[in-house]
Amino acid sequence: MNVFKPEKLFGIIGHPLGHTMSPLLHNWGFSEHKIPAVYMAWPTEPGKVESFMQTFRNLPISGASVTIPHKLSVMDYIDQLTERAKSVGAVNTLYWKGDKIMGDNTDAAGVSEPLRPYCDHVKKALLIGAGGAARAAITGLQTLGIEEIYITNRTASKAEDLAEEFKISALDWEDRGDQHFDLIVNSTSLGMSGKFQEINPMIMDNQDTNTIVYDLVYNPMETIFIKEAKTKGCTVIHGIEMFIHQGMEQFKLWTGKRLDENKVRELLLAQL
Ligand code: ATR
Repeated sequence: MNVFKPEKLFGIIGHPLGHTMSPLLHNWGFSEHKIPAVYMAWPTEPGKVESFMQTFRNLPISGASVTIPHKLSVMDYIDQLTERAKSVGAVNTLYWKGDKIMGDNTDAAGVSEPLRPYCDHVKKALLIGAGGAARAAITGLQTLGIEEIYITNRTASKAEDLAEEFKISALDWEDRGDQHFDLIVNSTSLGMSGKFQEINPMIMDNQDTNTIVYDLVYNPMETIFIKEAKTKGCTVIHGIEMFIHQGMEQFKLWTGKRLDENKVRELLLAQL
């Protein structure tokens, strides 16, 4: 009998973890590449991060994904941050470098990679929202070398703070619909299933077929923002792309192997 014996252990910490697709993605990747490893879901309540990190340090765990609400708190227990984790100011990936626990962030790559095929045409971009996801989005846009980046947020002071930190420009929330942008990224919770589902984060009067719309919200897939962007003829990028690319980047960090993007998409869409 052929018994599967995993030699490496990976997992995800977060709270709640009910709908995470990360185990599906990584376990599929291990089997594609015939890597004897397993990836598990480790629901971790706020306040339990320190004890998780002791476990990570002492048991043979090769790597972990970190999701909400632990992306900041986990940073207190890490030996070294990568440059991109420092830039985002949050950690979503743990791995070992020798005997050091490294804290990295692949969310910025999750934002930049789906945009890479279009980035030559993007001179002027608008980021909507100034929460945790916005920091990864700005880093992602800056990685692509986009020259003019504006940020707008309901609470103006938060947009102004990020604008100053990342050397981009803040735009008044009320004025966000007044001009044309080559790219608009939504990092707010507007459009997410639940009470915000029918609220569009953007006023689209000045957008057209030359606008790319990337909604980081992936539940539902077709958000109200994506739907309206399609009626304007904009190019749209769904939030699932961020999940796909941040996950592919984690997989590469842990195994050195690339996953086939189209196959990953097919796998995840079948699950949604
Ligand atoms: P995340 O980590 O996913 O970015 P967050 O840090 O809670 O989550 O940020 C949520 C973002 O959605 C913020 O930009 C928030 O705007 P405020 O800073 O003004 O709160 C935005 N957001 C949430 N509800 C909103 C609403 N009803 N109208 C406009 N923006 C909203």
